[in-house]
Amino acid sequence: MSRGRTGFTAVAMWAVLAASAGQALAADRVDVGKNEYENACAVCHGALGKGDGPMQTQLTRRVPDLTVLARANNGVFPFDLVYQTIDGRREVGAHGSRDMPVWGRTFRMQSSVYFENHPVYDRESAARSRILALTEYVFRLQGK
Ligand code: HEC
Repeated sequence: MSRGRTGFTAVAMWAVLAASAGQALAADRVDVGKNEYENACAVCHGALGKGDGPMQTQLTRRVPDLTVLARANNGVFPFDLVYQTIDGRREVGAHGSRDMPVWGRTFRMQSSVYFENHPVYDRESAARSRILALTEYVFRLQGK
């Protein structure tokens, strides 16, 4: 019985927190993933991820359409693949030239400028949160 009540309380708390978080977001919403995408990716992959960004004509490789990643993977969004592609740990263009910049290294270098000796943030987790936000945004582009 006490377990049931705890469960109910947890669900109720979650609902209240989710509702207030939703209101806070709606009032002052910053879409980190979208901003990062527009700054770092849209130039090649296009505003909606279709692979039709303005820089696409300068590259020797075809820029992939990011909106079909889930469809090409039996309807499952390939989270690790996207994360590691942005991070740079996954080699893209392994059989040819490498046109895709390694964002993980850039993000870690930038965050070391901001977060060096910071008591809470370290540069690895700061870079990781930007890559996660980007990966989540690419997830939202699916099927667009
Ligand atoms: C300079 C142009 C350019 C920019 C900027 C760029 N990409 Fe790419 N991206 C490519 C190209 C070209 C490929 C195809 C792989 C290759 O051959 O290098 C690719 C591949 C990918 C893939 C793998 C797709 C697949 O089907 O395997 C993902 C995911 C991706 N990019 C996401 C991003 C994200 C997110 C950003 C922003 C952080 C970004 N890209 C920025 C050019 C770019």
